[in-house]
Amino acid sequence: MPRLVPLLPIITFLLLLLRGASAWGAMGHETVAYIASHYALPATQTYLQTLLGDTSADYLASVASWADSYRYTSAGAFSAPYHYVDANDDPPSACGVDLDRDCGAEGCVVRALQNYTTILMGQEASGANLAIAAKMIIHFAGDIGQPLHCEGLEIGGNGIDVKYGDDDTNLHAVWDSDIPESVSGGSSLSSARSWSAALIKKIDSGTYKSQAASWISGLSVGTSASQTATALRWATESNAYVCSTVLRDGVDAVENQDVSGAYTTAAQPVVELQIAKQGYRLAKWLDAIVAGM
Ligand SMILES: *[C@@H]1O[C@H](CO)[C@@H](O)[C@H](O)[C@H]1NC(C)=O
Ligand SMILES: [Zn+2]
Repeated sequence: MPRLVPLLPIITFLLLLLRGASAWGAMGHETVAYIASHYALPATQTYLQTLLGDTSADYLASVASWADSYRYTSAGAFSAPYHYVDANDDPPSACGVDLDRDCGAEGCVVRALQNYTTILMGQEASGANLAIAAKMIIHFAGDIGQPLHCEGLEIGGNGIDVKYGDDDTNLHAVWDSDIPESVSGGSSLSSARSWSAALIKKIDSGTYKSQAASWISGLSVGTSASQTATALRWATESNAYVCSTVLRDGVDAVENQDVSGAYTTAAQPVVELQIAKQGYRLAKWLDAIVAGM
C-alpha cells in the first residue's frame, strides 16, 4: 500500500484544478481588468495603485483572480457563493434572475458586488480590508458577465459533461476558459493584454462604439439599492445568454458532445461582448466609487 501514498497530493492537486475551473479562467479576468485599467480615470488609478501597493500597469490584472484563490482557503470559504447567482429559471424556454428566489442567505454575486462597493466607498475598514473589497469587485465584475455564473441549472453547467476536442470537460469550464482562449489564442497574461487591446479598439472605433454608452446607462453606486439594481441588470443580461446561446437547443444538444466546433463559433461573439462590456463597466464602476468616497 505505500505505493498509494504519493497519489494523495496528486489527487488533491487535480481536485483543486477542477474546482479552480469555476470562474472565467484567469485570462478572462485579466482581460476585463486590462480593459478597465485602460478606461479608468487618473484619480481611480492613483487610488487603487496606492491601495493595492502596485504602481505597474498591471495593477488591476495582477489581482483579478485573487478571489478565486481566496475562496479555497479556510478564511475565504465564506465567499465561495459570492462568485455566482444560481438563477432557478428554466432555460432555454425561460430565463431570468430573481433576487428573492435566487440569492439566499449565503449570498450571491449581485449582493457581493453591492456589499464590497459599500465597504470600499465607506472608507472605514482597515487598509487590508479595503484592498480585499477592491479585489472582490475587480473579480466579481468579471464573473457576473459569464452567463453560466448567472445560472443554477446543473450547478451553472458544471454538471453538463461535454468534450472540447479531445478533452473531457464540462460546459461551465468551456465557457470559463476554452471559448475565451479560442478567441485570445492562449491563457497567458500576454494573451489577455493583446485581447484587451483588440476589444478596446472595438469599443473606441469598431463594432461596440455605438453601444458602449448603453452598457453604462443607469450605472450608479449612489445607494445600496442602486448598486444592487445595477449589478442585477448585469446579471440579468448575462443570464439571458443562457437561453439565447449557451443552452439554445437544450441540455441534450450539448451533453457528451464535442462543443469545440460550430458551438464555439456561435459562442465567441457573446464571450467577446461580455468581456468587453464588463471591462468597460468595471472602469466606470471604480471611477464612481472613487468619486463618491
Ligand atoms: C460583506 O463583506 C464582509 C467582508 O467580507 C462580510 O463579512 C459580510 O458577511 C458581507 N455581507 C454580506 C451581506 O454579504
Ligand atoms: Zn470567480
